[in-house]
Amino acid sequence: MTRIIAIMNQKGGVGKTTTTINLGHALALMGKNVMLLDMDPQGQVAASYGLDADIPGLDAVLLEDTAIDDVMVETRDNLTIVPAGKQLADFEHVSEGGSSRGHKLRLAIEGLSLQQDYILIDCPSSSGLLGINAMFAVGEVLVPVSSDYLSLQGLSRLMQILKRAESISGHDIRLWLVTTRMHIRRRLAHEIRKRILQYFPGRVFSTVIRESVALAECPSFGKTIFEYKQKNAGAEDYLSLAKDLIEGRTC
Ligand SMILES: Nc1ncnc2c1ncn2[C@@H]1O[C@H](COP(=O)(O)OP(=O)(O)OP(=O)(O)O)[C@@H](O)[C@H]1O
Ligand SMILES: [Mg+2]
Repeated sequence: MTRIIAIMNQKGGVGKTTTTINLGHALALMGKNVMLLDMDPQGQVAASYGLDADIPGLDAVLLEDTAIDDVMVETRDNLTIVPAGKQLADFEHVSEGGSSRGHKLRLAIEGLSLQQDYILIDCPSSSGLLGINAMFAVGEVLVPVSSDYLSLQGLSRLMQILKRAESISGHDIRLWLVTTRMHIRRRLAHEIRKRILQYFPGRVFSTVIRESVALAECPSFGKTIFEYKQKNAGAEDYLSLAKDLIEGRTC
């Protein structure tokens, strides 16, 4: 069974893309077959892996009904990327197709010829048609929450959107949260984590992703943290998060 997981939070800059890139590579290094889908028109997933950010990908899938098989790029051992593509933002403005517009990604994933262990979807911060497509395609949503006060706001709205997606699609979506960008010396950061654990008992992964300069640096070299600085806290944290995800290890 493929686990299809949207990395989602309407708040910007919480670590969605950083998590997609490094959690994806951690799973691949652990021997899992992984596909990363870039549903954010910013197109940062391909660039972070050193690929040309302009090659077609999900834009062709969603706008021209191209098969994912035809645009996926084998990027590392066990890891395939489907880039966003230059035109992906245009999909937000597609008006024809009625409610079937929301199910295009799900159908495209069903058409994959090779079975994956994990499909991770990097979602945009906006809650438009791209986010809806992700929601209808997945069985799980992973919400990165950064350890600043404002990151708590908006979580209840995200939960409402999830509930609506569940009732429309008729299937349950399993929710996970991970605290990211944790400044371990800041009391506020620990307060935020405590609150999140109270609000979402049993749903928050045990691993905390610490703030680490190397995690912010590695995309500019087209490398993941495992290629850039393997001994860094960020590498340790994302490997540990991959184990949490595999085993369902939460607090
Ligand atoms: N643990 C971390 N330590 C240090 N910097 C981080 C960490 N996680 C993310 N960053 C940096 O914070 C910024 C935002 O991260 P990222 O792009 O992953 O967030 P996002 O949620 O995908 O943002 P957007 O909403 O724009 O898509 C980036 O510059 C990234 O390198
Ligand atoms: Mg992002």
